[in-house]
Amino acid sequence: MEFSIKSGAPEKQRSACVVVGVFESRKLSAAAESIDRAAQGQLSDIVRRGDMEGKLGSTLLLHNIPRLLCDRVLLVGLGREREFREKQYRDACRAAIRTLNDTGSMEAVVFLTELPVRRRGAEWRIAQAVLVATETLYRFDRLKSKPSDVRRPLRKLTLTVAGRAELAAGEAILRQAEAIARGMSLAKDLGNLPPNVCTPAYLAEQAAAIAKAAAMSCEILEAADMEKLGMGALLAVARGSAQPPKLIVLRYQGADAAAAPIALVGKGITFDTGGISLKPAAEMDEMKFDMCGAAAVLGTMQAVAEMRLPLNVIGLAPTTENMPGGRATKPGDIVKTLSGQSVEVLNTDAEGRLILCDALSYCERFKPAVVIDVATLTGACVIALGHVATGLFSNDEALARELIAAGDAAYDRAWHMPLWEDYQEQLRSNFADMANIGGRPAGSITAACFLSRFAKTFRWAHLDIAGVAWRSGKEKGATGRPVPMLAQYLIERAQAHARVPAP
Ligand code: BES
Ligand code: MN
Ligand code: ZN
Repeated sequence: MEFSIKSGAPEKQRSACVVVGVFESRKLSAAAESIDRAAQGQLSDIVRRGDMEGKLGSTLLLHNIPRLLCDRVLLVGLGREREFREKQYRDACRAAIRTLNDTGSMEAVVFLTELPVRRRGAEWRIAQAVLVATETLYRFDRLKSKPSDVRRPLRKLTLTVAGRAELAAGEAILRQAEAIARGMSLAKDLGNLPPNVCTPAYLAEQAAAIAKAAAMSCEILEAADMEKLGMGALLAVARGSAQPPKLIVLRYQGADAAAAPIALVGKGITFDTGGISLKPAAEMDEMKFDMCGAAAVLGTMQAVAEMRLPLNVIGLAPTTENMPGGRATKPGDIVKTLSGQSVEVLNTDAEGRLILCDALSYCERFKPAVVIDVATLTGACVIALGHVATGLFSNDEALARELIAAGDAAYDRAWHMPLWEDYQEQLRSNFADMANIGGRPAGSITAACFLSRFAKTFRWAHLDIAGVAWRSGKEKGATGRPVPMLAQYLIERAQAHARVPAP
């Protein structure tokens, strides 16, 4: 899809379709009013007849409105004006895009981006329109023998700003949002691919391809390298699988080589059976999404490179299957991690923390300014926060605040969870330095506590995306979260550093 920005009067647009909003009950938005004036009251006549109440998400497509240069006008219900906030704005955009794509307009000029949204400016409205539009039109049908074809698909969207003065800033934010949207789509594609295609080797190949297209470097550590380094935890998870594990290391250099990098670490379990602690059969297919952390890291790296942020960023993804088998790790096995600490594996289904702990220790060599890991880590996080918020844990209050703020700005929100010492004792083991599980209470917190023991030498945050990385049911599919939050955090970090003059 092609996006562009423009400013101008709605009634003067030469377009297949002009999109304007109507509040409940039957109150025209400013853009709808200009059209109504030009059309000598036609719009208000139609609305008064009761064809468009303004209910949020409803749409009405009109043809042959007199004195306009466009072929059609699409009215979009916005709900009550007093209640029009971020969610309503996104819902209205989604409804508009859906209708445009399902009807004949292959191109449209959207005035919804001029609607006031509390706490948000034109830039936010543009960025969100791009993200919502890309998301709404996303399909994953490459493995169907007859891809569902839309007869006249929406190809080109023009988003409007109120004045010419806003064009330049709008243009810049549009390019950024497009990079983020592409990063999300990449993350979704990788997540949606079946686990017989998206193996650790496939992820490594994709990482190499992304690096090549975006002038990043890519290194893949093989099992033998992990052996040499002493990554006993990552290797323990891989033992049951016929697919060799990989540790992907992508490096983007946008700043001085001496500048400390930010490291992103994504959990890349391409299929989680639970191992010997086998999961129940119901919905086990969804454990193909257990590599969505790795996918989000790859998507974010691609976006960062496309935006050419003046930062150094390293993307790491430990990736393996978690399978049962004659060689698989057993409950009770004790493994030695790269950090030197020993772990008693009491449950082989708590494998994410085992691959992440070695990747976190591996980060130390990069002397990172910040490390952020992203993982579909615990079912307990889904119970705590549902499918709305990412669980955020950190050993640094300021970093936690920055990430929460980035998630809020990107409408990809996280909730700060506690990482108090009091929880650490649940990981006690009689036979090793720690156990890999902490019992039923506070499952997402004890998982984070486990990781914190491998993140002592840097500022670190952990994002548990178990509830937000994919949707189940009829709309089953990866969401591409938290690419927007991570990208926003990096954008803001790049801006903050640009403001501080070099010494
Ligand atoms: N990948 C799962 C977490 C998960 C489960 C995410 C369901 C989304 C939906 C993870 O590897 C896992 O199995 N965690 C266990 C940990 C437990 C054994 C301590 C869990 O959450 O049940
Ligand atoms: Mn598991
Ligand atoms: Zn898992």
